[in-house]
Amino acid sequence: VESILVNDGSVFELDPRVRSAHTPTCLVLRQGERTVLISLLRDGSLHLDNAKELENQGYGTMGARKIFEHPELMEALFNWSPEPELNFFEEQFGSLLKGRGLDVGCGNGRILLPCVLQRGWCVDGIDESLSSTRWVQSKLPSSNGCRIFRARVEYFCSPNSYSYAFACMNSIRYLTSMHQLRAHLGSLGNSVIPGGAYLFHLDLRPDPATPYRSSWDFAWEGRPHRATWLLHSFDHLSSQIIEEVVIEDVERQVEVTREYQRQGYFPIATLLSLFRDGCPWKLEATFDDRFERASVDREARGNFWFLLRRVS
Ligand SMILES: C[S@@+](CC[C@H](N)C(=O)[O-])C[C@H]1O[C@@H](n2cnc3c(N)ncnc32)[C@H](O)[C@@H]1O
Repeated sequence: VESILVNDGSVFELDPRVRSAHTPTCLVLRQGERTVLISLLRDGSLHLDNAKELENQGYGTMGARKIFEHPELMEALFNWSPEPELNFFEEQFGSLLKGRGLDVGCGNGRILLPCVLQRGWCVDGIDESLSSTRWVQSKLPSSNGCRIFRARVEYFCSPNSYSYAFACMNSIRYLTSMHQLRAHLGSLGNSVIPGGAYLFHLDLRPDPATPYRSSWDFAWEGRPHRATWLLHSFDHLSSQIIEEVVIEDVERQVEVTREYQRQGYFPIATLLSLFRDGCPWKLEATFDDRFERASVDREARGNFWFLLRRVS
């Protein structure tokens, strides 16, 4: 179980470190040495009081505690220039930019807003975060016709509405299984016109269980902070990576937040097999993080861009 419906209509997302088992009437959760048994309602949902209690005990969240639910924090955290990505889109999408585009997992609009406000492109955005979609919409002039949807990328579909689409900064790896990735490519294939293009950015590694860690400093609420992203664990059975994200207030020497994020691991051979027969996309080219053409093989390591062409 990754998430469960709450009887007020919200969703309780389990902390990725929590092990779970459920019957039609109850849910058993194990976190380290602690185990809890929760009764479910008749329709299989979780009572709001139980969801709140589980959240307090650290078994998961109803959303508000997630970094991606805080667009102001994301803006401070990912404050690097969007120009290189925008220039890359100009090169790769060319005349398709005259049509409507889609930012897949647009977050706080780091890329979408400069596309629209600086380059004058017409770009819609989708993201699962309600607060981020509201934030992005509030920054767009009401007259410009760009639409922001709260939607999950694996299901969103608006037939033949887009000439091009892009997914920056590894948004795709938040799809937690190969079937979610297949669902995404299928529904986006329906949304993009034949001849249209999709550029997505993805971290590749041949050895998903090997530890990694990267840190950078940023300013937040007028004080220096540090963000660290590291591997918490890799689950061979589900082929999922659990990443740990820590944000510290450097001046006050306090931890502001620690979050565990569930991500899919897509081995390159399996990924490439997706673009064979029956897929609405053809893989046209791959590029490295410096936007230079680079082929990917089983040993590929680092961030790559995949350029897909929508076949008819
Ligand atoms: C690393 S952020 C990248 C944001 C943006 N693409 C950028 O380059 O700044 C990943 C974003 O993907 C969104 N996301 C993750 N899983 C999603 C899903 N299944 N459907 C829609 N959005 C999702 C998150 O809410 C978050 O805003």
